[in-house]
Parts: sequence; structure tokens; C-alpha cells
Amino acid sequence: MRRPIVAANWKMHKTQDEASRFVRELLPRVGAEVAADVVIAPPFPLLPAVARALADAPHVSLAAQNVHSEASGAFTGEVSCAMLADAGCRYVIVGHSERRALFGESDAFVARKVAAVQRAGMRPILCVGETLEQREAGQTEAVLTTQLAGSLADLDEARAAELVIAYEPVWAIGTGRTATSELAQTAHALLRAQLRARLGAVAEAIRLQYGGSVRPENAKTLLGEPDIDGALVGGASLDPESFAAIVHAAA
Ligand code: 13P
Repeated sequence: MRRPIVAANWKMHKTQDEASRFVRELLPRVGAEVAADVVIAPPFPLLPAVARALADAPHVSLAAQNVHSEASGAFTGEVSCAMLADAGCRYVIVGHSERRALFGESDAFVARKVAAVQRAGMRPILCVGETLEQREAGQTEAVLTTQLAGSLADLDEARAAELVIAYEPVWAIGTGRTATSELAQTAHALLRAQLRARLGAVAEAIRLQYGGSVRPENAKTLLGEPDIDGALVGGASLDPESFAAIVHAAA
């Protein structure tokens, strides 16, 4: 009942030419009839090139990897939701663990971003996930509960069904150490229970992605779990063939 959603998070990779070539090579592999939402999140300077390459492919959506919560102002180096919507973005990744860990983003700041993305008519892809230390200390449930509640503190509940939440255990990101499907399902079920407690029945419509070393070889097993509705893919999304294979595993 939930349509799968697979997103490519390119992080800090590719040039305009490489981005355009990726889309040209992806589209024949992922036709308009694909039974999944497909999203590409390039770095900011590549948004126009990817938007142009996707002009005849409305079934593939453009996303940004980050945004500022304020509408405008003296925020050197930042971009606003209006700019991203104007560039053609339909989704924005917020609260990625690399933003939280390397750039000090707090749950409160992430919460303001979620609300700003919603106000601009786009859909947040909110990332949460525990570190290895937290998991080994038995804190996974507490960490996920705190991150989810804190990051959704300013949520427009009327638009909650449009939310996408990505569970990305930090220890699985870029390490090749994928979570087992049982472990990921347990975390997703916990997140959905939290959403249900807060939002009621709409929690059944919210899509939950798994992220962390997703590959064509492990995508099908992960996506077979009842509360895993898609994938947020880093490294394997840089190659059109492997990203398309993950999309087809989801669809
Ligand atoms: P990898 O797929 O490279 O592990 O990255 C996951 C991720 O952080 C996607 O946002």
C-alpha cells in the first residue's frame, strides 16, 4: 500500500557533465512505468543540469541534500527552500548524519528545516540513526526516539503523510557493513510505532527508507521487510546501473 521510494544521495560527487550523463544512462533503465518513486539528490550546483536532463522524465524527482530553515538573510553559503523549489526540487534531505556529526546540526535546527521544507511545498526526507557507540551501549531505541521527536517538533501534521523518514545507522554508512534486514526492520518498526503514537493512522502512509551500504545484492532482502519502504543510497547511487538495479529491487 505504500509506494516504494528510492533516492540517490550523491553527497559531494560529480560535475555537471557527469550528472547529465548519469541521467541519460539511468532513464532507459528506469522507465516511466516503474512501480517506485525515484529521487536524485545532487549537490546544489548540479541541480539545474539534473533538472534539465529530467525535463522529459517527470517520474524521477529532483531533491536537495540540505537547506537552511530561514527564508532569506545574511547566511553566507546557505540556500533557502524557495531557491530549491524554484530549481525544481520536490524533496529535500534534512538531518543527514553527516550534517549532524560534521556540521553540528541539532534536532531543533533540523526541526525548523522540516517545517520550512513543508511550507515551501516540498517533501522532507528526514534522516535519523544511531552511532556504533550508541548501539553498543544499548541506546539505539532512546536515540531514535529522541531524534525523531526532536526533529519533528515543528511538523505541519496536516502534511505528515508526505514525510519520508530515512533510518541510517551511522555505522553502516559508507562502511560496507549493511544492517541485517532483521535489525533494520526492528528499527523501522520502532520508528513507525513512534509515528503512530504521535500522529495516529497517518503513520501507515509515511514511507520509511533504509540507508547504509545498500547495494544491488542486498536491496531485495532489506526491501522485503514490512516496514522498509525504500532506500536512501549513497555510494551505489553514483553508478546508473547499480542505482537502477536497486530501484528495480524496490519496485
Ligand atoms: P552509503 O550507501 O554510501 O553507505 O551511504 C548511505 C547514505 O548516507 C545515504 O544518505
